[in-house]
Amino acid sequence: MEKICPLVASEQALCVESPAPQCGFVVFGASGDLTKRKLIPALANLFKRGLLDKGFFFLGCGRKNLSDEDFRKIAAEAVGNILPAPEKFLNNFYYTAGDYGDKNFYGNIKKTLAEFDKKTDANFGRVFYLSLPPLLYPQVIQNLGQSDLNKHNSFVRLVVEKPFGRDLQSAAELNDYLSKWFIEEQVYRIDHYLGKETVQNIMMFRFANSIFEPIWNRDYIDHIQITIAESIGIETRGGYYDKSGALRDMFVNHMLSMLSLVAMEPPASFAAEHIRDEKVKFLRSIRPFSLPPQNEDIVRGQYAGENINGKNILAYRQETDVEKNSKTETYIAARLFVDNWRWQGVPFYMRTGKRLAKRVTEIAIIFKKVPHLMFASAGIDELPANTLVLKIQPKEGISLFFEAKRPGPKLCIGTLQMDFNYAEIFGTDTPDAYERLLLDCMLGDQTLFTRIDDVKIAWGLIDNVLNTWKQQDLEPFIYPAGSESFPEADAFIQKDGRNWRKISEM
Ligand code: BG6
Repeated sequence: MEKICPLVASEQALCVESPAPQCGFVVFGASGDLTKRKLIPALANLFKRGLLDKGFFFLGCGRKNLSDEDFRKIAAEAVGNILPAPEKFLNNFYYTAGDYGDKNFYGNIKKTLAEFDKKTDANFGRVFYLSLPPLLYPQVIQNLGQSDLNKHNSFVRLVVEKPFGRDLQSAAELNDYLSKWFIEEQVYRIDHYLGKETVQNIMMFRFANSIFEPIWNRDYIDHIQITIAESIGIETRGGYYDKSGALRDMFVNHMLSMLSLVAMEPPASFAAEHIRDEKVKFLRSIRPFSLPPQNEDIVRGQYAGENINGKNILAYRQETDVEKNSKTETYIAARLFVDNWRWQGVPFYMRTGKRLAKRVTEIAIIFKKVPHLMFASAGIDELPANTLVLKIQPKEGISLFFEAKRPGPKLCIGTLQMDFNYAEIFGTDTPDAYERLLLDCMLGDQTLFTRIDDVKIAWGLIDNVLNTWKQQDLEPFIYPAGSESFPEADAFIQKDGRNWRKISEM
């Protein structure tokens, strides 16, 4: 297959980026992994790009007993070499230790924040960030509310990490609780996939071009495949993952978010509520999964151990904090139908799994084959379908596969791949998803955050599936770590006369 690479047509781009207003972050769970791996590096990058206010402060909160100095050292490690002279950024890092259930803890936080306000002579906005096990959300939310930290002269926002509940009921309960103290405009539910550049590009691609929209429907599209394959296992998160599984961990949030952007109707404007309304309208059109005895819409798998390149990979059931006979799925493939005019009859195949052949996320739009094959009389009786691939990671870009004449013989047709690769064109400096999301939160832009009606519809969609799995108590299919796929996952799509795109070739 030959590859063609496009060039940037113009050096000029229409860009809009606003710097954050005066505000600071208060992070609960500040000595944890997410703060070090994601939050601090993202903020350091925003600082480097001049997008943080010069008075920006970061108040780390947690159970660990740390001084401001200790915490600055941890933060300095997290900044790494992002900033050549990180002192200016780190000078505004502070730490308060306490127990999440202790009122005095919140009293201390309040005092520290009041001192900041006095020192800066400005009423800085406040972003509270829950980077905690979800079990702790209720008590932190309640204490924030009871100590009046949910109010301020300037804005107060609350960022909540996933998972938001573990089924429809618990999500609704958590939200009822949350809404006692915070209004929806203050709540930022993170789905980090929405912060990825290439996921946002889905909207630009669809709605900033006029040539794709007319064919973006059941008349031209045969089916859509969404794949999130991971090569890693569950790492150190056995305790969480074993109670969650792939459907809760990846499908109900990241996969449905990407699907909504690919398949929703064009919003009236780029305003957060317009986009979120369309996403919700789309989610409402998804047909409920078929349940037993026809249960043809979802297949589950779990990885077994394997020796890969001389390295012994543990089976899921041997991982730390995982039950020895766990039936939790580390892989799912699902088929969805959407009951609206645009998508009637078009299947959406979605799969995600851990310990697969490689790490890759993509959305493939597979178009219908030509309606009449005029080359059949000359001996060519089958041609592949045109396919458009939105590559989300790690090789971010877009590829279009189409048929063309090869030079030489009178009749010679082959597939060409037209590629746009972000790294080749713009360099490898794609901002991390958290940079976008933290900046948007400071700016009060909720576009890329999940609204509660979206969360509820998504859980509603899988609640029956989760209940059925629980009642049936069946074993998932077992696949060897490092697999490309496995027979039951292949049969799942082949019964519809289609095949998965090969993960190893993506
Ligand atoms: C998280 C899941 O939300 O997303 C993890 O909890 C998963 O299990 C991760 O590994 C994948 O994110 P990314 O950005 O690495 O594709």
